This record gives sequence, structure tokens and C-alpha cells, in this order.
Amino acid sequence: MASHPEGSLIGLRSSDGNITLIRIESGSRKVKGIGILDPLEKFSNTNFGSEIQLGRSTYTIVRPRLPDVISGMQRGAQTISAKDAGFFIAKLGIGEGDNVLEAGLGSGGLSIHLIRCLGSKGNLISVENREEHASTGMANISSALEAFSSTVSHQCIIGDISEIAQENEWELDAIILDLPDHPSAIKALFPSLNHGGRIGCYCPVSSQLEAAWQACEEAGLSIEWAGELMQRQWGRASKGGMRPINGPFGHTAFLLIAYKP
Ligand SMILES: C[S@@+](CC[C@H](N)C(=O)[O-])C[C@H]1O[C@@H](n2cnc3c(N)ncnc32)[C@H](O)[C@@H]1O
Repeated sequence: MASHPEGSLIGLRSSDGNITLIRIESGSRKVKGIGILDPLEKFSNTNFGSEIQLGRSTYTIVRPRLPDVISGMQRGAQTISAKDAGFFIAKLGIGEGDNVLEAGLGSGGLSIHLIRCLGSKGNLISVENREEHASTGMANISSALEAFSSTVSHQCIIGDISEIAQENEWELDAIILDLPDHPSAIKALFPSLNHGGRIGCYCPVSSQLEAAWQACEEAGLSIEWAGELMQRQWGRASKGGMRPINGPFGHTAFLLIAYKP
């Protein structure tokens, strides 16, 4: 029996740590950065941990886990990364079996983190108003479901979140909004949030944070936390010792967490 059956997902890890995700399918195709190959023919009988020479480069075949799926995902719209996704998941108390809504889906960076922690009994609803973003996001979600062997229920609804929210009655444990305009979505989604549930808003600029804060209060939510997270990576210094690495000390977004009593 093949080690990697048709339809399964593997990761190719290069010597510099980059991951390329490959679905085991029959037929020659171009794999970005690697070349033309037939995944079924090339990889179905390989094992995790084994090395393979492709062109001039050597790759290790890996079982893709969360950081690998994120590293190998297709990118379109700006994504929410581990720093902020992890904080949202913890502060919103998201876990196995929860019913969670996110808008917009974008490239699905946040969705992949959510799928990983929703287990196999959870439900994720993603709303996205641009077809091309939804198509990238759904391709990434499909890889995540395969990589995590997750049977979480997921649906993507195409349309404007405020309109979609008015047309649906959900019972949501948590909502995460990554949108240019949060207030109308907060107002429209409030009835669908369970008592004791929370909304998280991702706000790249401070005017969005202020508008989201006000909209949450006007809707009847109480603000639990607002601010930003800073991370500073360290490395080995060339002359010995450890120190913060030289590099961008960037801003991602301000985060807001609000609670429905
Ligand atoms: C920054 S991206 C989301 C990225 C995503 N959170 C991730 O981690 O990959 C914002 C997305 O919201 C979508 N969007 C903007 N306004 C929207 C609306 N009113 N309803 C639904 N989606 C919307 C955009 O098309 C875009 O794909």
C-alpha cells in the first residue's frame, strides 16, 4: 500500500525551512519553486522524514502541522498570523465543539488556526464578499482539513457580512471580524451571539479600533480588552551570547475583545 494515498497532503521542507504543500494527485503539474512533476508517481511511496532530491535541492518529506500549513499556504489578502490568532483564540475561549463565525475569510490565515483548535465537532462559518479571496481561502482551508484530519464542519458564504447576518439566525459562541468597517457587522451580528460569547475585532489602524469599541458598547457588549501585542525575536549574536535580532519591529493590528452579558 502507498505510504501517501491519493488525496493526502505532504509537505516538502527545504534546507532553509520553507514548506511547499503537495496534494498527492496523479498527473504532471508545475509546483511553484520546484518544477514539473507528477505527485502520485513521485511521492506516493516515500515516507515522512525521508529526503528527496528534486533538481538541485534536497527536501525532507514532512507531515504538515499547523506552522507548516501556514508556511505553505497560498497568499492573497493580508493574513492574521500566529501572534494575534493565538491571542484571539485564548481570549475568546474558542475550543472543541464551538460554533464560530469569521469575516472576512481573506486567505484563510485565521481560519486555519481556528480549524486546528475546533477539533472535529466544531463549526466554522466564514463570510467573504470577494469571490477571488474566497477561492484562495477555501483552497487553504481544504489543505488544513486534510493536514489535521479534521472533520470540523465549515461553510463559506459569499456576500457582505452585514447583509448575510441579517438574513441568518445563528447561535454563535465566538465571532472574529477582520474587516475595513466593523460597526455595521457588529450591530448585525449581535443577535446571533450567544450570551457569554465574545467578539474579537482586528483593527490595523486606531480609527478602526475606536469605531469598533463604540459600536460594541452601543450594541450592548462590554469591552474586555483592547490593545496590541508586540513580539521581539532573539537570536545568537555573532560574537557569542543572545540578543534581539536586527529586523522589523512591526505593527500588525490593534485587537478588541468584547463580551455579551
Ligand atoms: C484582511 S482580509 C482577512 C484576512 C483573514 N482574516 C486571514 O487571516 O487570512 C479582509 C477580507 O475581508 C473581506 N471583506 C471586506 N469587507 C467585507 C464585507 N463587508 N463582508 C465580507 N467580507 C468583507 C475582504 O474581501 C478581504 O478578503
